[in-house]
Formats: sequence, structure tokens, C-alpha cells
Amino acid sequence: MEVLTEKEYYTYHTENAVPTKLKIDSELFVKEISRFNFIPWGDVHLEFPRYAVPLINEDGIFKKDDPACYPLDRWNFLLEYPQFKYKEWTDDHLVKWKEWNSRKIDMDSIVNEKHFKEPTDALKISSLSVLSEILPYMYRSCIFKWDYLGHFKKHIDTWHPTQWIRLWGTTNPDGMVLRYEENGTMVRRHNIEQGRLYLHDSIKPHEALAFTDDVYQFFIALNPRALEVLW
Ligand SMILES: [Fe+2]
Repeated sequence: MEVLTEKEYYTYHTENAVPTKLKIDSELFVKEISRFNFIPWGDVHLEFPRYAVPLINEDGIFKKDDPACYPLDRWNFLLEYPQFKYKEWTDDHLVKWKEWNSRKIDMDSIVNEKHFKEPTDALKISSLSVLSEILPYMYRSCIFKWDYLGHFKKHIDTWHPTQWIRLWGTTNPDGMVLRYEENGTMVRRHNIEQGRLYLHDSIKPHEALAFTDDVYQFFIALNPRALEVLW
């Protein structure tokens, strides 16, 4: 199953976040990841403390400006409008951004999750050895570090038919909220286990907010064939 039909998708996504068998030792992970350089997430809203280290990017090389550590709609927009990189939201910038977002875009023709396949050295730390079984299936993946008020506004990351699935987890479930849209309101997901990786329903609108510092999150895209090894 390289691509999931809607029916196949909901066979596996039976709730917003389905626990998998994969669990990362958070205490060891936090110690090990501290020697890597976290870069700001994307090029705008840099006032919010959102940082990332890529686990899988284009070439396995760490860099200051890495598309693996961007919202990909933003990265693709900048390929067309490089003059807006790191720029404030002027009227012209906003008009172009809204126009780009309302276009019907062939996702296969732009940079998407599947574009990223090369592991970086961050994936070699011992606390992440639990990921070895899913390594052959990994697409764009990162570690996030959010401090107080780091957040993502409500968004979706994929659609039917689905070409990638998403795992998500955190070292600090008491220091953040993850909410999914249910009947028009945003509902918090409770009972998140520290270090556990969850199959995350990223077709459903969701948002997240950290209200303490040092909230690490695992952000992992996979080829849907990985569903055979997650439980
Ligand atoms: Fe998301």
C-alpha cells in the first residue's frame, strides 16, 4: 500500500491518535539530542519559540535553512516568490500568499513529504534506535523543540488518497496540548504517554501549543507500507 484509499486510511486511524508499539526513552533522548543544533522552524513567525532538528532531510546534511524544517506550503511558496523569504507580512506578501494557497496545486509536482529520504546523524542516537524498524519507510521527519507559547495553528497535513502517514509523540505531555476538531470545536487529546509514538490523524484539523519550555516532539512521516510494522 503505497497510497491509502479513504477506506484503508480509517481502518488504521480508528481514533485521532492511535498508540503504536514504538516508545522512546524520553530521559535518555533529551540528554542525547542536546548536542544537536536546533534551527528555527520556517522563515516567518520567528517570534514563537519553535525549533527543529531534522532526522530525515534531502541529503542527510545539517544546514541553516532546511526545507525539512519548514511548513512545506511555505517552502513551495518561496520557490516561486523568493523575495518574501524572512519578510514581514506586507499587503503584497499576504495577497500573494493567499493567492498561492487558493490555487489548485498538483502536490506531486511540488516538494512534499516523500521528497525527503536521507537520515541525518541525529537519527543515530541510541534513544532513537527503536525507530530502526520503520527507517526504510521514513519520509520527512524532525524533532521539534518548543518553548513557552510555541504552537501550530489549526491545519491539516494530508488528504485522501493518502501518500504518507504521520507519527507524533512528545517527551512532555503535561507541558503542551494537542487538539483535534470535533464537530466544529477543538478538543484536547488526553492520556498521552510520554515518549509513545502515535499514529496521528493529520487529515483532521488539529492544533498544538506548548505552555512550558523544552517540549520536544517527534514528527515523523512514513510510507503507508509502514502500517505493517507499527503494532
Ligand atoms: Fe500537523
